[in-house]
Amino acid sequence: MATPRAAVILAAGKSTRMKSSRSKVLHHVGGRSMLSWVADTARAVGADKIVCVVGEGNADVRKAAEDLGLDIALQEPQLGTGHAVLCAKEALAGFEGNMAVLYADTPFVRPETLERVFDSLERTGVTVLGFEPEEPGFYGRLITKDGELTAIVEARDATNEILDIGLCNSGVMAASTKDMFSALDRVGNDNVKHEYYLTDIVEILRNDGLAARVITADEGEVLGVNSRVDLATAELAFQMGMRQAMLIKGVTLRDPETTYFSYDTEIEPDAEIGANVVFGPGVSIAKDAVIHPFCHLEGAKIGEGAQIGPFARLRPGTEMAANTKAGNFVETKKAKIGKGSKINHLSYIGDAEVGEGANIGAGTITCNYDGYFKHKTVIGDGAFVGTNSSLVAPVKIGKGAYLGSGGVITKDVPADALAVARSEQVNKEGWAKRYNAAQQKRKNKSK
Ligand code: UD1
Ligand code: MG
Repeated sequence: MATPRAAVILAAGKSTRMKSSRSKVLHHVGGRSMLSWVADTARAVGADKIVCVVGEGNADVRKAAEDLGLDIALQEPQLGTGHAVLCAKEALAGFEGNMAVLYADTPFVRPETLERVFDSLERTGVTVLGFEPEEPGFYGRLITKDGELTAIVEARDATNEILDIGLCNSGVMAASTKDMFSALDRVGNDNVKHEYYLTDIVEILRNDGLAARVITADEGEVLGVNSRVDLATAELAFQMGMRQAMLIKGVTLRDPETTYFSYDTEIEPDAEIGANVVFGPGVSIAKDAVIHPFCHLEGAKIGEGAQIGPFARLRPGTEMAANTKAGNFVETKKAKIGKGSKINHLSYIGDAEVGEGANIGAGTITCNYDGYFKHKTVIGDGAFVGTNSSLVAPVKIGKGAYLGSGGVITKDVPADALAVARSEQVNKEGWAKRYNAAQQKRKNKSK
């Protein structure tokens, strides 16, 4: 049987450089928090126990971690990365297996990479994920000899000779829980920062006779976020990766640099995306659908051959079936639109179910909210909703019904009926001519 896996996510830092009232790791990249990226990576490699280490000042992180189903360990005060992992010991009591340490502010470590780190523990005592940054700066340096890792030296404690080493510590590290905690119990704080360094476990475990190893990743994968500048860099890296992946897969992006994706955007080949389109989380788009320029979609499912926009806003719970249309200045929310139905102009369709082949005229509004509760509008197959209709929910429009323009529809309309809900028109013969003549006369007098 495979060795059980756990992960410890460090998130107790103060993140002052972010200049935010929100904890750093809750800031979003590609439509979800950095913490959620990291938790997902841990889950993807089968970690069945994930502990998030938070400080007292990170109440928001604690809440978010709990919502993500993570266990919590409190680290107060923060005495270094080694101390932080040690704080997770109690939460991992009784767990026997391998564990990886991840940083909540390093969102892009790929599951494949973490898998390699865990796999390597079959042949070694401790594994560190290394990388060769363009600017090694303050990263810990990895000292290797004959392919083995012998020590990690923090930049602040390093000699110039060690600072010349290009191979650096990403922060990701793995060992068995037994070895990890046995080594951490012996880590001291005799260093420049007087912190308990996680990195010291390498030498400790080697002295125990265990081997240490480095696995490497690209710099982009271990990119850490400390400031808004870093956040923007991470976002750009994510977007560039997604654009590339979508193009390679066969999705047409008319202007890739202005197409913005979320971590979970799914688009089938032969769909086409116009310029300036933003995808929030939860969007899927089937083949041959076209999203015209300047659309914002979130939580929306777009069927084959559907045409969306330009300038449409599709909000969560929108399902556009095959060959539907939502045209310019159309907003939808919790709306299921059946095959071939069209909402071509200037409408709000919320909390609604529209059948197949219906036509929703320009300016139609579902009045779904009474100030307290939301109500549903149901529109049957083949119904024709006249221009500028207000559908006051709850209301049902039967199949094939025809609504005259400008109606305020407050009662259900039977199938195949005509509903007219506006005052009757009055024509007064010759009135305009008389009016204009009288007004002109007044104006001439006053000159
Ligand atoms: C750490 C590594 C360094 C590595 C670098 C990669 C150590 C001693 N050093 O340095 O080798 O190159 O990361 O980015 O491990 N944290 C806590 N509690 C603490 C201290 C830190 O939860 O008491 C968390 C932080 O929130 C952060 C992570 O641990 O997510 C790393 O801490 P940080 O202070 O940034 O470590 P570095 O000095 O950058
Ligand atoms: Mg750091």
